[in-house]
Amino acid sequence: LRANDPIFAMSQEPNHTTWVITKHEHVKEMLKSKSFIKDQRKLFSNNQSHEKQDNGEINIFQNMMLDVDPPDHTRLRKLVQPYFNPKTIKELKPRIIEIADELLDQASEKQGPVDLIDEFAFPLPIIVISELLGIPSEDRNKFRKWSNTIVAASDEFEPDFMEDVQAFTNYLTDLFERRRKSPENDFISSLLQAEEDGEQLNRDELYSMVVLLIIAGHETTVNLIANTMYALFEHPDQLEKLKTDTKLTATAIEEGLRYYSPVDFTTARWSEDDMEFHGKTIKRGDLVLASLASANRDEEKFEAPDTFDITRKPNPHVAFGYGIHFCLGAPLARLEGEIALRKLMERFPNISMVENQTSSPWRPVFLLRGLEGLK
Ligand code: HEM
Repeated sequence: LRANDPIFAMSQEPNHTTWVITKHEHVKEMLKSKSFIKDQRKLFSNNQSHEKQDNGEINIFQNMMLDVDPPDHTRLRKLVQPYFNPKTIKELKPRIIEIADELLDQASEKQGPVDLIDEFAFPLPIIVISELLGIPSEDRNKFRKWSNTIVAASDEFEPDFMEDVQAFTNYLTDLFERRRKSPENDFISSLLQAEEDGEQLNRDELYSMVVLLIIAGHETTVNLIANTMYALFEHPDQLEKLKTDTKLTATAIEEGLRYYSPVDFTTARWSEDDMEFHGKTIKRGDLVLASLASANRDEEKFEAPDTFDITRKPNPHVAFGYGIHFCLGAPLARLEGEIALRKLMERFPNISMVENQTSSPWRPVFLLRGLEGLK
């Protein structure tokens, strides 16, 4: 596609075309919204405003930071940015190391091969994001199913989807109520304060923000850790290299992000006007997706793009997106990924993969690249 039809019309609906952008250069150009401003409007908008309805009920997906444009986006991002900037995140390092060690202690006590995802790659980011948000530890396991159903749903009217969304909403209503009565020094309490002040955050934005962070914390970093380990098992020379020099964990994580990008596509962008984009006519109302996974294997940008090289430098991948919606959690994901890899190498120098999957090991989810399991 990159060579023959880099801006590809994936499907034609009665009222719009869905385009997929596959080249690194084009992906960056489209996501860098400054290139596409007209009459102070973003031409590739994240906001499908005509589909939004307000029937008075709580909507945990309405006005998610990812789905809105400036100035709403700027206001919402500013509110949460201080919790996720690199300096604040660095302070979490000792605690993340402690959690990683505890999980690996528990895994070591098990007999026989363990699933790296169940025992380590999944619980690590969940515990970290839950502690950061202020979610009680006894409630953490509830989110796995809700979060999985929401990202896997191909149809939002599937019975499981509606049921899990309702359970998620009820849980948050209850948690917010408890925190309102007795605030704590945590992220949720400070968001509730912002909601009460009224100007920075409305009710649906509050729910959507917490849901977005919980889902992002559940569905992405687990894949970064597991996919990078899987790539290392597939490339034993790179695994050996990392074992003998754990200083390479930072570049290994960047290469894991590039090679098996945990997020395949950005969320939807909607064209606000007819426009020419590198030879294609994109019409007003068309849906445009950027394939980050394809951009990260672009031969015009990366030398030997299909080679997994944990020393690759520079590594200008777009696994965390680009532009104003660049991943808020990138510093956290990178830190967790590096700690996870280093701990696995230090504590299990003979680590290996026992199960050689014959069929596809990947979960059948459109937007994300993650393994079913990793033993
Ligand atoms: C946005 C990837 C981890 C929170 C994004 C986007 C990508 C991405 C590609 C942009 C999507 C778009 O433009 O449509 C990843 C990857 C991760 C990761 C690969 C792990 C390896 C996290 C974590 C958090 C997080 C741990 C938070 C706890 C967010 C938020 C946004 C976002 C809030 C929306 C930012 C905005 O709209 O301004 N992420 N993410 N992500 N991510 Fe992540």
